[in-house]
Amino acid sequence: MRNLAVIGTGYVGLVTGVCLSEVGHHVVCIDVDEEKVKKMKSGIPPIFEPGLEELMIKNIKNGQLHFTTDYTEGLKNAEVIYITVGTPQNIDGSADLKYIKQVAKDIGLHVTHDVIVATKSTVPVGTNELVHKIIQENLKENVQIDIVSNPEFLREGFAIYDTFNNDRTVIGTSQDHAAKIMTEINQPFNVPIFITDIRSAEMIKYASNAFLATKISFINEIALICEKIGANVDDVAYGMGQDSRIGPKFLDAGIGYGGSCFPKDSIALVKMAENVNHSFKILNSVIEINKKQQMILVEKAKERFGSLKGKKCAMLGLSFKPNTDDVRESACIYISKRLIDEGAEVSAYDPIAIENAKKILDSKVKYGANMEETLQDTDFVFILTDWKEFIDFPLDKFSDLMKFPIIFDGRNCYNLEDVKQYPIEYHSIGRASII
Ligand code: UGA
Repeated sequence: MRNLAVIGTGYVGLVTGVCLSEVGHHVVCIDVDEEKVKKMKSGIPPIFEPGLEELMIKNIKNGQLHFTTDYTEGLKNAEVIYITVGTPQNIDGSADLKYIKQVAKDIGLHVTHDVIVATKSTVPVGTNELVHKIIQENLKENVQIDIVSNPEFLREGFAIYDTFNNDRTVIGTSQDHAAKIMTEINQPFNVPIFITDIRSAEMIKYASNAFLATKISFINEIALICEKIGANVDDVAYGMGQDSRIGPKFLDAGIGYGGSCFPKDSIALVKMAENVNHSFKILNSVIEINKKQQMILVEKAKERFGSLKGKKCAMLGLSFKPNTDDVRESACIYISKRLIDEGAEVSAYDPIAIENAKKILDSKVKYGANMEETLQDTDFVFILTDWKEFIDFPLDKFSDLMKFPIIFDGRNCYNLEDVKQYPIEYHSIGRASII
């Protein structure tokens, strides 16, 4: 088992550090945020991720997992240093590498022995070479630095599960020694390992996310056509997915993709292509379709009511998908703004994302303590996230609580035949409306 350091304890870094310690490695996580490090030392994770807290506490107790703000202490014994800091967006959509560059400099200044530096952050092609250069420029000792691109493919809400059940681990390096050590470190996860060059590894990450985003925008366009020609997109997606070349996953029509990855990474890839004079036409369309799709429920409601002025809307679901409290790039941000601009009153509910939503949404949005309170006396409801709590909600309760139950379901949570059993007006995505 190896001594590892993980720099940056955001979502990727913390999950990586905890899981590496769980399989027996000795891990030190380094972060500049003292408050955060203090909390993590006592087993409190700064993010919500199922299963994370338990594994974190267990490995802190058994001495496998440590946290520090001190680079000297953190890097002292490290055989591999993982870079897992954030890559925010520049105004033009390209990736902002300021944290990556700072970490590379800090590694250079503090490392005193041969080491492998593996980048897990999503970084534009060529960044690992830049990391290498910055480290070399700042080194105080004559030591060997091997660079590895090791992108992550974890879904929020399933990050622990995915770490142990991923479809592949990608290791990009030109050094046989680094490939051997990285393979050994990852062996206990039992995930197939693919070794390639650094640039290809960096590109695999962007191309994968862009392709998944393309699948979503594709099925959302099919849904729009289905509505017009009287087909059912759920059945169409099912029938398509039976073809193993297409596959059944990522064909759920809805209100588009959100989150901290797809929106940011797809724009960054467009910019990367532009930098080499290539216009990435498909991906530009994917992004444009997604923007339109996020507004689809507002368009449907406007068509139904004429004006939304003075109408009371219940917005169910604020996180960009279920099982996370993350509201970054969630459609609720744009939808609530538009509803308020149209003069509607908005009450919102989410099982766990309300506190995060409060920091981003307009102060005019009111929040309910539960579904019942949020739906009370509203004119219509928007379902934005397919939380199990919403799917399991008894359909007769909509009629009990609302003036007249008019549901705009952005995630196709309910079976049309079930809805037909109740006095409900129901509009969903890519399926016939029930009026
Ligand atoms: C995504 C990828 O799935 C991960 O493989 C990747 O590692 C991660 O980004 C990343 O780059 O770090 P994540 O953002 O957690 O993971 O979320 P997903 O589960 O992929 O969902 C993204 C969005 O697409 C959500 O808003 C979801 O509602 C939407 N979606 C997903 C659909 O609208 N339809 C689908 O069929 C699937």
